[in-house]
Amino acid sequence: MCGIIGACLSSHVCRNFVIGEIVFNGLLRLEYRGYDSAGVAVIGDKLLVKKGKGKLSELDARLDFKGLRGCVGIGHTRWATHGVPNDVNAHPHVDCRNAFAVVHNGVLENFVELKRMLQSRGHVFASDTDTEVIPHLVEEYYYRTGDVFKSFKEAVKALKGTYAILLVTPLEPFKIFFAKKDSPLIIGLGEGFNLLASDIPAVLPHTRKVVVIRDNWAGFITPSEAYAEDLASGEPVELVKYARTVEWSISEAEKSGYPHFMLKEIYEQPRAVMETVYGALRDRLITQAVELLVNAEKVYITGAGTSFHAAEHFSITGTRLAGKPVISFISSEYDTFLPGAGEGDVLIVVSQSGETMDSLKALRAFKGRGVKIISVSNVIDSAIPRESHVTLYTRAGPEIGVAATKTFTTQTILLTYLAVRLGEAIGQLDSGDKEKILGSITSAGELVKKTLEDTGGLARKLASSISRSSSAYYLSRGVGVPVAKEGALKIKEIAYVHAESYPAGESKHGPIALVESSFPVVFVIPNDSYLETLLLGNIEEMKARGAYAIGVGAEGSRAMELVNEFIPVPRAHWALTPITHTIPLQLLAYYAAVEKGLDPDKPRNLAKTVTVE
Ligand code: F6R
Repeated sequence: MCGIIGACLSSHVCRNFVIGEIVFNGLLRLEYRGYDSAGVAVIGDKLLVKKGKGKLSELDARLDFKGLRGCVGIGHTRWATHGVPNDVNAHPHVDCRNAFAVVHNGVLENFVELKRMLQSRGHVFASDTDTEVIPHLVEEYYYRTGDVFKSFKEAVKALKGTYAILLVTPLEPFKIFFAKKDSPLIIGLGEGFNLLASDIPAVLPHTRKVVVIRDNWAGFITPSEAYAEDLASGEPVELVKYARTVEWSISEAEKSGYPHFMLKEIYEQPRAVMETVYGALRDRLITQAVELLVNAEKVYITGAGTSFHAAEHFSITGTRLAGKPVISFISSEYDTFLPGAGEGDVLIVVSQSGETMDSLKALRAFKGRGVKIISVSNVIDSAIPRESHVTLYTRAGPEIGVAATKTFTTQTILLTYLAVRLGEAIGQLDSGDKEKILGSITSAGELVKKTLEDTGGLARKLASSISRSSSAYYLSRGVGVPVAKEGALKIKEIAYVHAESYPAGESKHGPIALVESSFPVVFVIPNDSYLETLLLGNIEEMKARGAYAIGVGAEGSRAMELVNEFIPVPRAHWALTPITHTIPLQLLAYYAAVEKGLDPDKPRNLAKTVTVE
């Protein structure tokens, strides 16, 4: 789960740009993928590698990445899997003769065997990483073949696991070699230069023309050419067929004056939600997805983290609006659910990045049993959409902050619409109900805008007290439960406040034992009279034990009088609870983190795209 970038410049472009700056600035845009150490290699007169432990800006101050000269360079920002974060384990890694430098995102399952074999042939290793076997393998094959590309391909074929790899060498000073399996990699095509990167925002300042590299391709870029082969067939790939133009603008991938990406992305939600709704209303693939779901014997839905909370939302709305039971499970737990699945079933995989390994594994395992796959993703052509039968895209734009915000609200609005269409197709939803929900869905962008306007100040005020608490509960019922879980996840990961979420009814069966004077309990109160009545009882129970109750509910809710603090959100159909009620919880977490002096964009130990199991 690291970020990698490579830049190959013609001598003309090279005169006007510093390679170190291009690589460093690209890495800054990939830092959300990992930030415990980083490094850069350039080919100047010879191979030069600079790397170390720490965040990019600190390292640049120490090592001057930006000052590196040359026409070809690669860089890496790391989220450690094998080997602690330190200077030696930072990438790039080199072979014994300092002839091949490699950056890698992924995990090599057979590195121990490969390392032993290479050591027995005299190779000396410097680090504890799995990656270091790659340059040594290339070195080993190069002794035999004298051909860099052949040696690189042989080395790649020997690897088991996941990888996006870039390699540079003074033996071929105007090329960057690449290979990919299960970890993302794109080519950015330019005039007088070509780039490689883990994600599109890293190349956007230079080009919008990209090729999403597919699994088992290996190739190279030069300043004027991009070449790839399918390793399975040995045939060249016609890359022009895969080139496409990215619609995002660079400002969408930048902070635009906000202090953090997370806050910017929270405030982008009116547009993101509106565009997702417009996209869904026009998307013919929704009809295909609905057909699959109507005919499905069993419907499963999965995801990880925030995407799992969106999945749970569909499990509730699919059942309530369409009368179709939907089994939700966390993607890393897929093998528990696999034995019950087979032909005739459908699995929906929710993943903003489309690259999460746990979700990809679940997809592959279910597909292997003949299950039809519908995916919901924010990244076109990413791994999960590519392997799905039907993909529905959210239109959130790039999400850089590590904590998911706008991708959750866009996932849930899209899935709510899918549930409505399913209910309509099954004949479960009467036209009056349908009109009411569709009314809320089509005005969802406005609802989000109003929620932001109404709740920002109060969330900021409450953040200061919640940031001082060591623990909190987030409780709700029914459609509010995934939202409460999402609120707890946000404050945990961003502000490091220990928060647990329960269906409120369950809180009596143990969790209430922890509640004492001033213990914060956040109640998510959906706009549903029955659920609200039940929650009023739960609020009373918690308050009777001294809890400090914070309610998030529709303006005029009966809970207003009961709780210590009430955050009013616009009154909308209950199915839109994630759209209205999540936003103050995102802001609460954001401001609590800022209050504690933490960087909400880069929470410790986390990476945005988790491409390891
Ligand atoms: C939480 C968060 C993560 C992701 C999870 C799945 O704020 O961002 O929990 O939701 O890693 O990622 P995707 O949706 O890319 O599969």
